[in-house]
Amino acid sequence: MMTRTSRVPVGIVGAGPAGLFLSLLLRREGIESVVLDSRSRAEIEGTIRAGVLEHWTADLIRDLGLNGRMDRLAHRHGGVTLQFCGERHHLNFRELTDGKEVTVYPQHEVLIDLLAALDAEGGQVIFGVQDVAMHDLRTDRPRLTFRRAPDAEPEELLCEYVAGCDGFHGPGRQAIPVTERREYTKVYPFGWLGVLVEAPPSYHELIYANHERGFALLSTRTPEIQRMYVQCGPHDPLGEWPDDRVWEELHRRLDVPGSCVTEGRIFQKNIVPLRSFVSEPMRYGRLFLAGDAAHIVPPTGAKGLNLAVGDVVLLSHLMIRAMRHGDRDALDTYSARALRRVWRAERFSWSMTRMLHRDPTGSAFEGRIHLAELDYLVHSEAASRSLAENYVGFPVEL
Ligand code: FAD
Ligand code: DHB
Repeated sequence: MMTRTSRVPVGIVGAGPAGLFLSLLLRREGIESVVLDSRSRAEIEGTIRAGVLEHWTADLIRDLGLNGRMDRLAHRHGGVTLQFCGERHHLNFRELTDGKEVTVYPQHEVLIDLLAALDAEGGQVIFGVQDVAMHDLRTDRPRLTFRRAPDAEPEELLCEYVAGCDGFHGPGRQAIPVTERREYTKVYPFGWLGVLVEAPPSYHELIYANHERGFALLSTRTPEIQRMYVQCGPHDPLGEWPDDRVWEELHRRLDVPGSCVTEGRIFQKNIVPLRSFVSEPMRYGRLFLAGDAAHIVPPTGAKGLNLAVGDVVLLSHLMIRAMRHGDRDALDTYSARALRRVWRAERFSWSMTRMLHRDPTGSAFEGRIHLAELDYLVHSEAASRSLAENYVGFPVEL
């Protein structure tokens, strides 16, 4: 079978937050890209993942003019509540960070908005592709090969640059020889069971709870649908978590006198193991990694999606400098600059995770230290401010 060849300045693998923001940011500067994804559009637009946008991420969505649905559907939160020893403590982000806040707006809604904008502006996203492979990455003419269907003709995209925005399991990171990268991993001895529930909100803001039975998180989606999480075993079969058990644990971990979790029909349930991971460097020749392809954070700090967007804000800026302004060396700074932000978010997510969960392999001493840390956090303005500024997030320095 003949191989069909075409050319595009930037070939992007992965239509998650990293790939789609990158494609739109480049397009707005007149730089064409093609995004390849192995999943269907329906799957991408329907997969439930992250929920919290940092202050600057919501600003970026507004700056890009993508805020129509977000303004109608999202909730702006000026703080969060930490709960431990049966008491709730409100952290007021607006006061602690000069008016900053976070926006609760689910990842799949952001992806729906990005795909609609790319459709309207002539962006190219090819869904359901197979056999994506990266070639000649250390030359100035890197290539992507793929097929649109199992029996379709092979296709080849000749690029100037390739972006690996293909998540933790994608081919991007694997295209870098193991001798050329170093991986840092921490696997936690627990996971999160997440549920979507038909019910009104139980509380007006997010509650992160440290409880002797384990962590719990109360979040929201819409006035009619709520998102809740409980700490579970990392490999618990879903069958071990019938609805009755989920409700019992949510009540035990989150209820306080006068404020209880409101029950409703559970219509979605999943378990994710928690892990921290970084692969360095984030560049190999003409291949640039962004988002989960290069790093994973445990979800406790709500950083995963924001970090992916931060990477491509930087990457698009440097690609534009390279391609529009002839500054070929600009991209040499990408990996080190991106990794500096990544490690800061890794530290925050790790520390929130450690402080809020019960480690079944840890000691009673550590459990007490976590409570002392929380006590300090809510009673020291300096410590509260530190959590607040990390939680609302740091804009990318360009
Ligand atoms: P992804 O969103 O993973 O996008 C990668 C894309 O690449 C996918 O669309 C995939 O189909 C595509 N791809 C992969 N392999 C190939 C291939 N071979 N060929 C072509 N395309 C390919 N973060 C939070 O902050 N809070 C949460 O509650 C939370 N929950 C999560 C739950 C789950 C199950 C997962 C997996 C992640 C969760 N995250 C959460 C993390 C957050 O969703 C991610 O950090 C974010 O999606 C990263 O975006 P990305 O674009 O880098 O990667
Ligand atoms: C949600 C997810 C998080 O990881 C988090 O820290 C807060 C909220 C959510 O899905 O709503």
